[in-house]
Amino acid sequence: MRSYREAFSPYWHPVAYASELKDRPLAARLLETDLVVWRTGSGVAATQRHCAHRGADLCAGEPTAEGLRCAFHGWTWGPEGACVRLPSRPGGPIPPTARLAAFRATERYGLIWVCLAPEPAAPLPHWPELEDGALAVVHLPRLDWDASAGRMIEIVLDVAHLSWVHRGTFGNPDEQEVPPYDVERREDGVHARIIYPALAPGLDGAPPKVDRTTLTYDVTLPFAARLAFKPTLFYAHTVYAIASPVSEEKMRCFYFATYHPRLRHFPDMFVKSELAILEQDRRVLEGVRPRAHPTDFAGEVHTPADRLPIEYRRGVLALRLGQHVDGPAPDGAGGMP
Ligand code: FES
Ligand SMILES: [Fe+2]
Repeated sequence: MRSYREAFSPYWHPVAYASELKDRPLAARLLETDLVVWRTGSGVAATQRHCAHRGADLCAGEPTAEGLRCAFHGWTWGPEGACVRLPSRPGGPIPPTARLAAFRATERYGLIWVCLAPEPAAPLPHWPELEDGALAVVHLPRLDWDASAGRMIEIVLDVAHLSWVHRGTFGNPDEQEVPPYDVERREDGVHARIIYPALAPGLDGAPPKVDRTTLTYDVTLPFAARLAFKPTLFYAHTVYAIASPVSEEKMRCFYFATYHPRLRHFPDMFVKSELAILEQDRRVLEGVRPRAHPTDFAGEVHTPADRLPIEYRRGVLALRLGQHVDGPAPDGAGGMP
């Protein structure tokens, strides 16, 4: 079987919020590969983190017009990984082995994305609404969890956990049944829509109110989810959760939301409530074993309520295993569409 790293290297993964990458190089770790990311005159560059000369940490280096200058002996590395300056031997030949592994890097949707393979197998997620500037965006701090990226996206898509894990935030313990819902498989992911009777906190000591919220899920394989919330009482907003695989058992999630720019109080409210909600998820998810996302459907039990996570798992396993994957038919009769 292909390794996890091999399977997911040909996809774009975020390694930092664009706002974090200023004039200093930044460390990142993706699929067990240590990277340094920096801004060039025309874009962003990502290479191996440690210098090819004597292994110095290039995060301590200096971005210059020519490339990233190592702090140890001043060798300078261009964005393609070639050594372009060797101060101890000015004018002399640069050894052909003086190279860093360099990777594709780009900035989009307020994130720095890296693809470790020479050719990406799929484009970045298609989220044009993030590019016209009409919506305001609020970012959460990065979430560094001991959980696999696949399991993280599954919990985002998990309908049945809402009334259990999210008691006390928006989960409705009186509504535990998951009515049947459809899932559409798309070439690049999955799509579903459900209505969830969330609980909105009552104001001034009033009891909570049921807020029938339409949740629209769009997943771009392997690890990017967009989730639009259309509540009846609270504000409409859309959440983006992109789990970046640090290793097979560890992920860093970039999590942000768009909202109408007139809602001035939204960011504070969102950050506070969403961090409480995500803490509920983290406590469950970090305890899940095996940490690595399973590579088959045996060993865990599937029901119709799990339809969306199952369809997602089918897609992500197909990428993991490099083959078509048949999952279970949790509705018993007739299988999945
Ligand atoms: S270790 Fe980087 S230039 Fe020597
Ligand atoms: Fe959750």
